Amino acid sequence: MHQTVLLLPAVDHLHVQPGGLYLDATFGAGGHTGEILKRGGRVVALDYDELSVKKGQEKFAREIATDRLRLFTQNFVKLNQVVGSLGDFVGFDGMIFDLGTSTDQLMSAQHGLSVYTNGPLDMRLDKTLGVSAHDLLQALSEKQLIELFDEFGGETESRRIAREIVLERKKRGPEAFATSFELANLVSRVKKNRLGKLHPATKVFQALRIAVNDEIGNLERVLPQIIDALKSGGYLVMIAFHEGEDRPVKKQLRAWADEGLVQLETKKPIMPDEAETTANPRSRSAKMRVARKL
Ligand SMILES: C[S@@+](CC[C@H](N)C(=O)[O-])C[C@H]1O[C@@H](n2cnc3c(N)ncnc32)[C@H](O)[C@@H]1O
Repeated sequence: MHQTVLLLPAVDHLHVQPGGLYLDATFGAGGHTGEILKRGGRVVALDYDELSVKKGQEKFAREIATDRLRLFTQNFVKLNQVVGSLGDFVGFDGMIFDLGTSTDQLMSAQHGLSVYTNGPLDMRLDKTLGVSAHDLLQALSEKQLIELFDEFGGETESRRIAREIVLERKKRGPEAFATSFELANLVSRVKKNRLGKLHPATKVFQALRIAVNDEIGNLERVLPQIIDALKSGGYLVMIAFHEGEDRPVKKQLRAWADEGLVQLETKKPIMPDEAETTANPRSRSAKMRVARKL
């Protein structure tokens, strides 16, 4: 089960007003949404993964029926389009982005994101996307694979892994890397099963997931849309899990602060405390930044 990261600190920083309207751009398992609703806020929530939305529709059936929650299967890059469809929209009182993937998604065989569960090596959470992880492993050159594993995974053995992938593909053709276990096993073999804390293929899987779902591109495209959708005095909460996410967030918040559009509420990012990282090790890399629109 997904455990919401920085649940209370994040929602505290939204300063929820009863009856206020909040955007949860990354609904996931609905942890942040549930807490905003509990504090009397109304929520517009988005997730591009239809399975997360389907589960959310069941979990929050009552709030949806009473129009306290509007939940859409939608990529947050369509933010302008979503607010345009809301009719009486005058701005959000707060917005939260809890980036990346949920533990439920990482563990589900259905998406092919898990190194531990065998399934088709697809990795598309947004089913409108055309290119799967299998397609990428078939199409990218050795050099492109190295760059991908370096940039989005920080994988130290990307050269050897890329070489083996290209060799395997020559041997087996389009059949190669149809499943998550084929890739996980190849990487484990190359890295001689050095297990440490992480499965040897974790970083390669992370890099492919980020590329397939265009996670950084989505973030860079939504950032400029945020400021107009937020009311004056409204709070923006951004939670990033790696440098590739945190860098564009930090840059955008600083640029808005320099233009006098926002006040930064967090000079340094807020990280989960020890109790949280012990209970939920996945929260370790989280960095939360908050700004208030002036
Ligand atoms: C870390 S989880 C969010 C967990 C959620 N805050 C909770 O408490 O359960 C991130 C979620 O955002 C979704 N997501 C990531 N990028 C997205 C995008 N560009 N548009 C819409 N949803 C996105 C993922 O499908 C995933 O469900």
